[in-house]
Amino acid sequence: MILHGVATRALRGLDPEDAHRLAIRGLRLGLGPRGGRDDPILATNLAGVALPNPVGLAPGFDKDAEVFAAMLRAGFGFVECGTVTPLAQAGNPRPRLFRLTEDRAVINRMGFNNRGLDAFAGHLARRSPDGVVGANIGANKDSADRVGDYVTGLRRLWGLASYFTINVSSPNTPGLRALQTKDALEELLGRLAEARDALPAAGRAPMFLKVAPDLEAGEVETIVAASLAHGLAGVMVGNTTVSRPPLASPFRDETGGLSGAPLSGLAARVLGEFAQAAAGRLALVGVGGIGSGADAYARIRAGAQAVQLYSALVFEGPGLVGRIKRDLARRLRADGFASLGAAVGAR
Ligand SMILES: Cc1cc2nc3c(=O)[nH]c(=O)nc-3n(C[C@H](O)[C@H](O)[C@H](O)COP(=O)(O)O)c2cc1C
Repeated sequence: MILHGVATRALRGLDPEDAHRLAIRGLRLGLGPRGGRDDPILATNLAGVALPNPVGLAPGFDKDAEVFAAMLRAGFGFVECGTVTPLAQAGNPRPRLFRLTEDRAVINRMGFNNRGLDAFAGHLARRSPDGVVGANIGANKDSADRVGDYVTGLRRLWGLASYFTINVSSPNTPGLRALQTKDALEELLGRLAEARDALPAAGRAPMFLKVAPDLEAGEVETIVAASLAHGLAGVMVGNTTVSRPPLASPFRDETGGLSGAPLSGLAARVLGEFAQAAAGRLALVGVGGIGSGADAYARIRAGAQAVQLYSALVFEGPGLVGRIKRDLARRLRADGFASLGAAVGAR
C-alpha cells in the first residue's frame, strides 16, 4: 500500500489523462493493491444484489470494463463499468480532464470516449461469477435514435452484468440530460422496460437510473414516479455538476462536469430529496464528493443503500477504500447498528 501511495503521487505529476491511462495499464498488468477480507458488518444488499461492502467504484474510471477485477481485488464492494455506447467513439478533443488540486476536485468533458459495446461485452464475458460488476449504458453522440441506443446496450449486455445503470446525466453529450424530463423519460424507461420484459428471465438484473445533481423543482418527484412506474430498482444520485461553487484552482472555468469535494454538499442534498420522495420504494446509491468514512456514513444514514466514488481516488490513491471501510465499520458499531442495512435511512 505504501508503494501504491508513492505511485499515486507520481501519477499526480503527469497530465491527468496520461496518468489515468498509465494506471489502467498497471492494473491490467496485475500491479493493483489487494484489499483483504471485509468486515462482516459491512455486508449488504443493493436491490437484491449481495455486496461484501457498500463502497463502489463510480463509472468513468473503467469505461471499457478492463480492470474491474483488479478494482474488486483492491477492496471495492462493487465496480460500475462504462459509460459504454453501442459504437466506439473518440469523445471530445484533449485536454478534457482537469485536476483541481487546490479544491480536491476534477472537471471533465470526456464525452463518452469508449471502445463500444462489442469490446465491453467481450471483457465482461470473461469475468468470474463472483464480484459485482455493473454496466453503465449510454447513447452515441451522433445517434439518430438515442433511446434505441440504450435498448441496444441493455440487450447486448443482458446476462453479463450484475446490474444496469441508464446514464441520462452526463453533461458532456449535448442534449443527453434532456432525457431526464418527463415525456422523454417516460419514452426511454417505457422502451427499456418493454425490452427488459422480453429478455430471458435467467439474465435478469436490476436497472438503475443515474441522474444529474442539477435538477429543477419537481423533477425529483417526476423521476421517482417514472422509475417506479417502469419497474426500475433504484437511482444513482448522481453525476457531475455543471454548477460552479466557489473554487480556487485556475481550471475552475473549464467547461465540463465538476466532481470531488466541492460536489459533496449538493450531492448529499439531492440524495436526501430522492430519499424523501421515494420513501423506501427505490434503492438509492449516493455518489458525489465522497472522500471519507464520515461522508459515506452520512450518505447511508440519509438513505443510500450503497455509495460510489471516483475523484477522491485521484488525490488519495487506492488506500482510501480500506480507510473508508474501516471507519464505516467503526461508526456502525459506535452507533449500535448490527449491520450496515440497519443504518440505511436511520437519520
Ligand atoms: C473523468 C471522469 C469520467 C466520468 N465518466 C463517467 C461516465 O462515463 N459515466 C457516468 O455515469 N459517470 C461518469 N463520471 C461521473 C462519476 O461516475 C461520478 O458520478 C462523479 O464523478 C461524482 O463522484 P466523485 O465526486 O466521487 O467523483 C465521470 C467522472 C469523472 C471524474
